[in-house]
Amino acid sequence: MRKRFKYTPYRELPVEYQLLLKQAEDAMQTAYNPYSNFFVGAALLSPSGDAVKGSNVENSAYGSTICAERSAIVRANAMEMRIFEAIAIIGKGKDFETKQVTAPCGSCRQMLYELFQVSGEKLDVIMSTTRKDRIIVASIEDLLPLAFGPKDVGVDIERFRN
Ligand code: THU
Repeated sequence: MRKRFKYTPYRELPVEYQLLLKQAEDAMQTAYNPYSNFFVGAALLSPSGDAVKGSNVENSAYGSTICAERSAIVRANAMEMRIFEAIAIIGKGKDFETKQVTAPCGSCRQMLYELFQVSGEKLDVIMSTTRKDRIIVASIEDLLPLAFGPKDVGVDIERFRN
């Protein structure tokens, strides 16, 4: 049966998720988006409560664009951080607000799944509309069922857990 995702009202989100969404909202402003004019902000939450932010960075060779989520992941890696328990994602157009939550693209789900495997924690994905009037919290496993991961290529990534 198809998995149903339910909306969580903003006020019912745990405070740390509310704050994380605010960080993602701030990150949106740093988007380099001359081609799509679409802003995406993402923020990863570490167990100690620190947030690592990312935004989409586009390129004139359109396919070279990196999404906000992956930009946060690679930034975190450069900061020597690989353990995270949640990521918040929010988007907006230059002159429109989103009516549906901004959910991670397929490539970002795959990268988030790898992060989740390295991390060894649960990974909640908090997805929001521009106005935060619709929010969905889902696990990465729910967003990427039957995922292909390190184990499928016989690799134990535990030594990268730091
Ligand atoms: N984008 C993201 O940053 N994250 C997503 O989850 C979906 C799409 C960006 C890529 C591109 O810069 C713009 O949104 C339009 O696709």
